[in-house]
Amino acid sequence: MTALRVKGKARLNGSTVVGGSKYVALSVIPAALLANSPSVIENLPDISDVAVYADIIRLLGAKVEYNNQGWMRIDPTGLKNNVADQSLVKRMRASYYLLGVLLARFGKAEVALPGGDDIGPRPIDQHLKGFRALGAEAVIEHGLVKVHAQRLAGNHSIYLDVLTVGATINLMLAAALAEGTTVISNAYRGPFIVDLANFLNAMGARVFGAGTETIRIQGVSELHGCQHAIIPDQSEAATLMVATAMTQGDVTLTNTIPDHLESVSAKLQEAGVDVKHCDDKIRVRCDSRVNAVNVKTQPLPGFFTDFQAPMSALLTTADGMSVVTETIWDERFEHLNQLVKMGAQVRIAGRTAIIEGVPRLTGAEVHGTDLRASAALLMAAMSAEGDSLVTGFEHADRGYERLDEKFMSLGAQIDRVSHN
Ligand code: EPU
Repeated sequence: MTALRVKGKARLNGSTVVGGSKYVALSVIPAALLANSPSVIENLPDISDVAVYADIIRLLGAKVEYNNQGWMRIDPTGLKNNVADQSLVKRMRASYYLLGVLLARFGKAEVALPGGDDIGPRPIDQHLKGFRALGAEAVIEHGLVKVHAQRLAGNHSIYLDVLTVGATINLMLAAALAEGTTVISNAYRGPFIVDLANFLNAMGARVFGAGTETIRIQGVSELHGCQHAIIPDQSEAATLMVATAMTQGDVTLTNTIPDHLESVSAKLQEAGVDVKHCDDKIRVRCDSRVNAVNVKTQPLPGFFTDFQAPMSALLTTADGMSVVTETIWDERFEHLNQLVKMGAQVRIAGRTAIIEGVPRLTGAEVHGTDLRASAALLMAAMSAEGDSLVTGFEHADRGYERLDEKFMSLGAQIDRVSHN
């Protein structure tokens, strides 16, 4: 386990660069396996999920060169295996994109049910429904997802019953090499979907409408490798913005796409924080306690569920009462239970948290149980009075690029320690 010893009363100040998008990284790495020649991916985030994904596809027969500085070359020509390594697959959620990719490449795939954050039930029925609509058989047996098709055939009417990131991506991957045209209705709208479509199209795919609720994919018989630099990470940027507000700091983020952060910028402004956008930069300034605000998570472009943990942590020190409603996941408030140890006043009823802001949190030992919770606890610890120990930080390392180092470059005092 990784733990951080954190000195309180930090005030973040200065400028830092946002890393590449985790979601795009974890979809284009498997997407590169659809091609018949090598691809080069740039601006990858340096996170442990990327390193694990590289290992997973190496075991499938791909050749991977990765310099841990955002650059990866994937040569899929030696791909020979349609059964993914179970122990690695269970270490993350996005490993299930191999189902769509290997199904398209080999007509069959076996991938263990994926791991990922423990934030409530995470069904994959929409993925399986979509594969079946493309003509595949899809079953879950003994903890394995098995898909098989003589031939994948496009389908004009795949309607997703819920807005799902994962199923939208998996079906785009499978449909890229299917025979004929596939139409995904009620598709997820998010910048990472658009960037994946850009990657697929650079490989020779014909994907139209990504970023809207209807995505049309004209299947092609072959894809070739390409070179692609991925967009910046929205959730990392949002976390840095909210952390700046919580520590009453003044930080400029570079390598951002401000349009992708409109919901968090607007919510911070509503809470009294000064947020300015200029080209690829966002400057956040805050010199007093924020005002309470209500937050309800929504699929993008609404207030994204991944921004909820940092934002609700901030609201524990707001002036007044905030109501936070999480509409996507059943169990995404564990960070708030932990923050009670630091003096937060919170009542949780199902998917709603009522937060009565206190002037200041006090340092304590707290445990992060998932990616966003660990980051939220780190923010709270930096702002608190006194020192804290944040355990479970390995969750944050899965999806944030050296978050503790970025905060240290902005003035925080943090020591990484190992903890049993
Ligand atoms: N859902 C279904 N059936 C499905 C798929 C999803 O009912 O077949 C439901 C889920 O239960 C949930 C909603 O649809 O209520 C949205 O699920 P989605 O498929 O979008 O989630 P995901 O693809 O498993 C990704 C991110 C999550 C992020 C959600 C936001 C990855 C690896 N993970 O998960 O990220 O919260 O989208 O919708 O892409 C994180 O990074 O902190 C994280 C957990």
